[in-house]
Amino acid sequence: MAALAPRLGVNIDHVATIRNARGGPHPDPLRAALMAAEAGADGITLHVREDRRHVREDDLARLAAAITLPINLEMACTEEMLAIALAAKPHAVCLVPERREERTTEGGLDVAGQHNTVAPFVTRLRDAGIRVSLFIDPHPVQIAVAQALGAPVVELHTGAYCEAVASGDTPRAAHELHMIEAAAREGVARGIEVHAGHGITFDSVTPIAAIPEIRELNIGHFLVGEAIFIGFDAAIRRIKSLMLAARAGA
Ligand code: PXP
Repeated sequence: MAALAPRLGVNIDHVATIRNARGGPHPDPLRAALMAAEAGADGITLHVREDRRHVREDDLARLAAAITLPINLEMACTEEMLAIALAAKPHAVCLVPERREERTTEGGLDVAGQHNTVAPFVTRLRDAGIRVSLFIDPHPVQIAVAQALGAPVVELHTGAYCEAVASGDTPRAAHELHMIEAAAREGVARGIEVHAGHGITFDSVTPIAAIPEIRELNIGHFLVGEAIFIGFDAAIRRIKSLMLAARAGA
């Protein structure tokens, strides 16, 4: 039986990054989310950061009131973010590491090293009926700990693979892809739903989307950047069609 087609979560953070550059309401991430839904997104993802450098909790509230697609909130393991999640009750929360000085989420959450920090967040979000995912590096130890923590979903960090593709380092890309494939298999073998994301572009999406165990990809920065050249709608439609073709073995 053919594996189910992967879902596309469109991350609208960087629409808000551009908005915030001028401090006004334009461009509105809610308008981008509505456009993403029209273009074939299966979910909307956003990361409320401690420093609110892109989306804020008022954006989350407006999205929750206006869109019908599932919302995936990425957040750090802090009491402040937990309160925001419990108030907004998104469909899903993805727990991510966060450092103030980083430009983006540079690595996965070290659930093996931070088991005791992460565990209460998994429990409290699950108790509130929110599907919890852990953003981890594609490593078997992290998968095993994610299972022990009772996380129903993991999202595999694809940044190292996508960087290798972008820099033309074919051996490294092959190694990183192998790590993602092995981690995806390990996750499914342990009864965990597997997602993937970070740094994905038109050039790197196909091998990742072809991995049959992966159920969802979350993609943001590239789509917002590509919107400048071909439009947001067209960028989403193209990445989605590449995902579907990859899974169909085209
Ligand atoms: N998934 C997670 C957990 C992330 O933190 C991010 C970046 O916010 C993404 C996916 C999307 O990465 P990108 O914006 O590079 O596509």
